[in-house]
Amino acid sequence: MFNASVYRERRQVLRRQMGSGLLLFPGNGESPMNYPANTYPFRQDSSFLYYFGVDKPGFVGLIDVDEDCDYLYGNDFDIDDIIWMGPQPSVRELADVVGINSTGDNSQLAERLAAAVNAGRRIHFLSPYRMEEQVRIAEWLGLDVAAVNRHASRAMIRAVVTQRSTKSEAEIREIEKALEISSRIYETVMDLARPGVNEGEVAGALLGVVGRANSHISFPTILSVHGETLHNHFHGNEMREDDLLVVDSGAESPEHYASDITRTFPVGGRFTPVQRQVYEIVLRAQEAAIQAMRPGTRFLDCHMMAAREIATGLKEIGLMKGDVDEAVQAGAHALFFPHGLGHMMGLDVHDMENLGENLVGYDETISRSRQFGLSALRMARELFPGFVVTVEPGIYFIPALIDQWRREGAHSDFIDYDALETFRDFGGIRIEDDVLVTAEGHRVLGPKIPKTVADIESGMKG
Ligand code: GLY
Ligand code: MN
Ligand code: MN
Repeated sequence: MFNASVYRERRQVLRRQMGSGLLLFPGNGESPMNYPANTYPFRQDSSFLYYFGVDKPGFVGLIDVDEDCDYLYGNDFDIDDIIWMGPQPSVRELADVVGINSTGDNSQLAERLAAAVNAGRRIHFLSPYRMEEQVRIAEWLGLDVAAVNRHASRAMIRAVVTQRSTKSEAEIREIEKALEISSRIYETVMDLARPGVNEGEVAGALLGVVGRANSHISFPTILSVHGETLHNHFHGNEMREDDLLVVDSGAESPEHYASDITRTFPVGGRFTPVQRQVYEIVLRAQEAAIQAMRPGTRFLDCHMMAAREIATGLKEIGLMKGDVDEAVQAGAHALFFPHGLGHMMGLDVHDMENLGENLVGYDETISRSRQFGLSALRMARELFPGFVVTVEPGIYFIPALIDQWRREGAHSDFIDYDALETFRDFGGIRIEDDVLVTAEGHRVLGPKIPKTVADIESGMKG
């Protein structure tokens, strides 16, 4: 946990920003997999963690802006709980650790909220993403369950997004702790990936690295020789000599900050000449986009820069044709790069996505494009010091998409569909790093994880 003063200061900033009202933060409870006592691994709500720090199920935070008072609510454990769970801190003890003077149990919370509703006070809450939370909020505030999200507070969402978007030095240190684990993950992947080995062996070893660090994954691991499927969670293929293995994975720091790294490996240890050509295009696109990152630049422009590098490279190897700028403007490159360049990262791997992608990644000066590919860009807005953003371009050969575009004659001025035929089994390549925007420009966070062709080939043990 951070020092109590960190949580106190965070709540103080939010209180000042909001000006009045009650701010309700339901922490997460346990979530059952198949019966109540058999639960998914517990993950605290990130905004609750940010302001109230308590990493246990069953707590609720409340900030009364008008009374200038913060509360932690929860029920103390009784002896039956302690027999099964071991000694547990009291609500009072937990509140002390995060700088809160006032505590109460769940019935006192319900009474306080009912009194506030009766008095006509404004109760702000963030959009809940679990049904249990929608039901609880509906009960506390006398709302229809289906209407709860409509009553979420725009003002509170904006204030929380603004505050959480800028990472402190302590938060950056946490992200770098998660990246230390990522570095070990990729050493392990390079040790184990080789022809004849099943993807599951590598995916399992990756989880072992995370477990040995007493950490958790920050999102379900993507590890596949079918990297053309962007979020491929199937790990049952036997890897072959000429396969490309895409590994997109992340871990959490002790305070639950994320890492999110992608590397692409030649299973046989060396890229084929064609794989190498395509790999170098993705790497150039990633490096150009990273180089462009500085305060005042829009991430949209970094995305477009990566798109232009990709179209230029694909034209050089004969898969695209025509004027590069026109092709990118028309969105033709999205056949190969159908996703956005990256997203904010922090306590969530897609930071604050539960609060609304457009409120996190866009502002009043940029609205989201409807063009295929660009519409998937999560982060477009101007960069500020303290933002942490992933940079993850890729080139993919998705047979179903190629067939559809060819059938429709889509962008046939810019794509050589005949030349594409020999790439149907290529798979995909993605390269991803986590980048801090600094006052001077940017810094790629964490230890250096091999990504040049030479470093990857020399790191492959198989
Ligand atoms: N979690 C997949 C990605 O955004 O990189
Ligand atoms: Mn990723
Ligand atoms: Mn990512």
